[in-house]
Amino acid sequence: MDKKRAEGLSIGIIMDGNGRWAKKRGLPRTAGHKKGAEVFEDITRYANELGVAAITFYAFSTENWSRPKEELDVIMDLFGASLRRMYKFIKENNRVVFLGERAPLRAEHREMMADIEQKTARREGMILNVAVNYGGRQEIVRAARRLADEVKEGRLSADEIDEDTFEARLYTTGQPMPDFILRTSGEERVSNFLLWQGAYSELIFTDTYWPDFTRAHFDAVLEQFFGRDRRFGGL
Ligand code: FPP
Repeated sequence: MDKKRAEGLSIGIIMDGNGRWAKKRGLPRTAGHKKGAEVFEDITRYANELGVAAITFYAFSTENWSRPKEELDVIMDLFGASLRRMYKFIKENNRVVFLGERAPLRAEHREMMADIEQKTARREGMILNVAVNYGGRQEIVRAARRLADEVKEGRLSADEIDEDTFEARLYTTGQPMPDFILRTSGEERVSNFLLWQGAYSELIFTDTYWPDFTRAHFDAVLEQFFGRDRRFGGL
């Protein structure tokens, strides 16, 4: 990929197909998550090399808690391992932001998340967003509640509520909206990911299972995106 072309893009990724990748190989589903976590780290590095402005990975949705406990434990173990490795696979200028409701996560993870966010908050390079226990509707409801509280406390008047004030209460406040959202594995749904932010995002679907996804696949997705004619409702 010509480096210059991807510069400044904002990208959302739904990493799907870990379980099916493993099943196809006769492996436990968790083997797919393990390989998926490696791909997550490598694509983060690659996006950074390409000069991407912001990249958001859907690591765990609010609906994912309904999976068997053994699988949840492994996903959370892998998330913890990625948190511990984070300073190794992000670049010195990357900012990390976590999207989602943290209370149900492990205390040691919440501490690492707060620490990473705080230490990278003032960095000006690529933003790595990791959505964990995230749901787009939940994020919108949370923003509405925050606005309601502020109105109740007299810090904001109801007339001041507009798209900008609303957006400022989302997890991604101040960030560029995704130019495209990619979902791997052949599923063609948004599944509660970046509902507000994705209003004008191009949607790109690929049949590749996430654990098989490589830098070359990412290049092909970028080519597909550049081939789209974006009009934002205009002509
Ligand atoms: C989707 O595949 C993947 C998940 C629900 C979990 C993703 C988790 C990781 C990549 C590892 C841990 C997290 C991080 C941030 C490194 P699926 O299990 O829904 O696949 P299937 O649709 O084929 O069953």
